[in-house]
Amino acid sequence: MTGLLEGKAAIVTGAASGIGEASARLMASEGARVLAVDLPGKPLAQVHAGSPSIICMDMDVTALGAADAIVAAAIDAFGRLDILFNNAGTVGKGGVVETHDEADWNFVIGLNLTSVYRLSKAAIPFLKQSGAARIINVGSVRSDFADSGAVAYTSTKHAVAGLTKVLACELGPYGTANYIQPGAILTGITSPAFERMPDYAKYWKERAPVGRFGESEDIANAVLYLASDEADFVSGIGLWVDGGAVSHY
Ligand SMILES: NC(=O)c1ccc[n+]([C@@H]2O[C@H](COP(=O)([O-])OP(=O)(O)OC[C@H]3O[C@@H](n4cnc5c(N)ncnc54)[C@H](O)[C@@H]3O)[C@@H](O)[C@H]2O)c1
Repeated sequence: MTGLLEGKAAIVTGAASGIGEASARLMASEGARVLAVDLPGKPLAQVHAGSPSIICMDMDVTALGAADAIVAAAIDAFGRLDILFNNAGTVGKGGVVETHDEADWNFVIGLNLTSVYRLSKAAIPFLKQSGAARIINVGSVRSDFADSGAVAYTSTKHAVAGLTKVLACELGPYGTANYIQPGAILTGITSPAFERMPDYAKYWKERAPVGRFGESEDIANAVLYLASDEADFVSGIGLWVDGGAVSHY
């Protein structure tokens, strides 16, 4: 522990597992107080039981009024807000445009894009008082590239890139906004697919020159950097954390 986030207050969504869980834990170990948010029924309180700096809130980030309620809870608890980590996301059911289920389209957009917009909107007035505001979103390889299928996921992750760049412009001198572009990270989203499709898993593992899958902690370390004062001049970027997979021809 180096105290990189001493005195800061953060919101982390999707904090009951994977990248959000690891990031909330690392932020707290670096001195931040954290409001960890996840869906009702997820083991949020259990996974953070040993961290006194983490307060847990069971909330669906897509629910009407959720963004205001989450930001209000952070302000009530901490009296300030410095970091918003919009991490909760879904791949949805996937599928090609021709036969894609529009309900899935709306579901994925609601979570991966609209909730990020709403939480940013609700948080900005408080982030502006921080002196070093940080919005960190989660993009993907699919913020830049596409394949057939996963139309809703790919569309939202491209949009997250655009939204983040706008946020970087609008936060201006008050702070920064960036998005992480994880490679293949072993989490609740990917592990079932990798188990179901070993060839797909092999492809991603071999594609990364470092020769392994990513762990949630690999992403949490990048989130910590972007959240810290060390990244004060880094804004509007997508930060690849993919073991070199995307630059590997
Ligand atoms: N794992 C990867 O390889 C990978 C790659 C690129 C991008 N991502 C992105 O990383 C982010 C985190 O995913 P992960 O891989 O850690 O998966 P994960 O499934 O382990 O974690 C996602 C968390 O979000 C929560 N969540 C889902 N819907 C929610 C809602 N409506 N309200 C509140 N919480 C909700 C889930 O309950 C879960 O705890 C996502 O945005 C995902 O698109 C992951």
